[in-house]
Amino acid sequence: MSTSPQTRTIGVGLISVGWMGRLHSRAYAALPLIYPELGLKPRLVQAADTAQAGRDYAENVLGYETTTTDYRDVLANPEVDVVSICAPNFLHAEVSIAAAKAGKPFWVEKPVGRGGKETAAVEAAADAAGVVTCIGFNYRHVPAVELAKKLIAEGQLGRVTNVRGRFFGGFSSNPEDPLAWRFVRSMSGSGVLGDLMGHLVDLMHHVLGPISAVTAATGTYIAERPALPGSTATGLLPVENEDFASMLIRFHDSAVAAGALGSLEASRIAVGSSSDYGFEINGTEGSVRWNFARMNELDVALTRTGPFIGFTTVLANSSFPEFERFQPSSGTGMGYDDLKTIEAKKFLLAVTGGSAESSNIHDAVASARVLDAAEESAASGLWVSLPIIAGSTAAFAQ
Ligand SMILES: NC(=O)c1ccc[n+]([C@@H]2O[C@H](COP(=O)([O-])OP(=O)(O)OC[C@H]3O[C@@H](n4cnc5c(N)ncnc54)[C@H](O)[C@@H]3O)[C@@H](O)[C@H]2O)c1
Repeated sequence: MSTSPQTRTIGVGLISVGWMGRLHSRAYAALPLIYPELGLKPRLVQAADTAQAGRDYAENVLGYETTTTDYRDVLANPEVDVVSICAPNFLHAEVSIAAAKAGKPFWVEKPVGRGGKETAAVEAAADAAGVVTCIGFNYRHVPAVELAKKLIAEGQLGRVTNVRGRFFGGFSSNPEDPLAWRFVRSMSGSGVLGDLMGHLVDLMHHVLGPISAVTAATGTYIAERPALPGSTATGLLPVENEDFASMLIRFHDSAVAAGALGSLEASRIAVGSSSDYGFEINGTEGSVRWNFARMNELDVALTRTGPFIGFTTVLANSSFPEFERFQPSSGTGMGYDDLKTIEAKKFLLAVTGGSAESSNIHDAVASARVLDAAEESAASGLWVSLPIIAGSTAAFAQ
């Protein structure tokens, strides 16, 4: 990491150059343009991908100085100060633990582990090495979500009584789609719980505070899929994890959410849904409603009397957290990439300045424990209790 009076150059290593790897790289590139006053200048040093196409893209399009097939080269590279881990799920824990042992702060995509146990192993390695961590919980950074969190923290909704959240996708709704890694337990862990519900659980932790108890039901409705073309197997093979999950939740008592209850649902086979991801939160004095499909809007209801009862849709504007960084006025929306730019900023601020705004490995453990509890409850039919886990949401614990 080199430092000049104006800028601090931070060497970046990337593990895997797929959708997320490209997005992390664009976020690093955007960072000095969006937040010039921070003086942080990411330098794209080395990228690893087993696929030639990924390595070519890293070098020729993203501008990494070198590439390799072996992620360990990136972790051993002395020019690499921080690492982005964007590999398929089954590699996250292995690479994260290796990054921690190499003393490299890392920004890892979700889910960090295939369940709570593996996620806790990453936590132990990161804690032992004392490295900064950041998790790809990008929906935390949506300005409308941050404003909802702020309204709740200020007590403008009164005491929160309940929340309803869902994350529905239709990306696995075609039974003809082959048995990719996401349907195989050894590769993916749980199904839609780890893939989509983990985001929703983290958003609940971020906005309302830690979940204290869960009861859940899960279902697998496309029970068999054709073997992957090119694999040694043939015919139809069993899908090993859930397509749909539904949970009832309780929250630990906090200043804003004492006794709050909720219901959360996630599906990967909802025909017609594409990232239908949202929540409605009701309190004794008001309500908020948000959906990712209309990311730049927040529905707010703050009165039960007078002519303006009901929800008002507010377009994100300069009074929403971070919005003004990206757009000068309401009506011109931010996009998905911008969320990752905010995430990159929080990560590198944590690395360079000790800011506590970034999500961290403890948040990943907190989310994974809730998902484990959901699987346990789906098997037993019973409520499962959870302790408070102090991630970056700890401020909401009391
Ligand atoms: N935060 C979010 O909203 C979000 C969204 C999508 C995906 N994700 C997560 O990001 C991760 C990556 O997803 P994606 O959509 O970018 O996948 P992708 O399939 O687009 O890319 C995966 C890349 O990994 C490479 N790869 C495979 N084995 C490797 C190895 N041994 N070493 C190095 N590279 C290897 C592949 O060649 C490919 O380039 C997943 O864990 C996923 O859950 C997060």
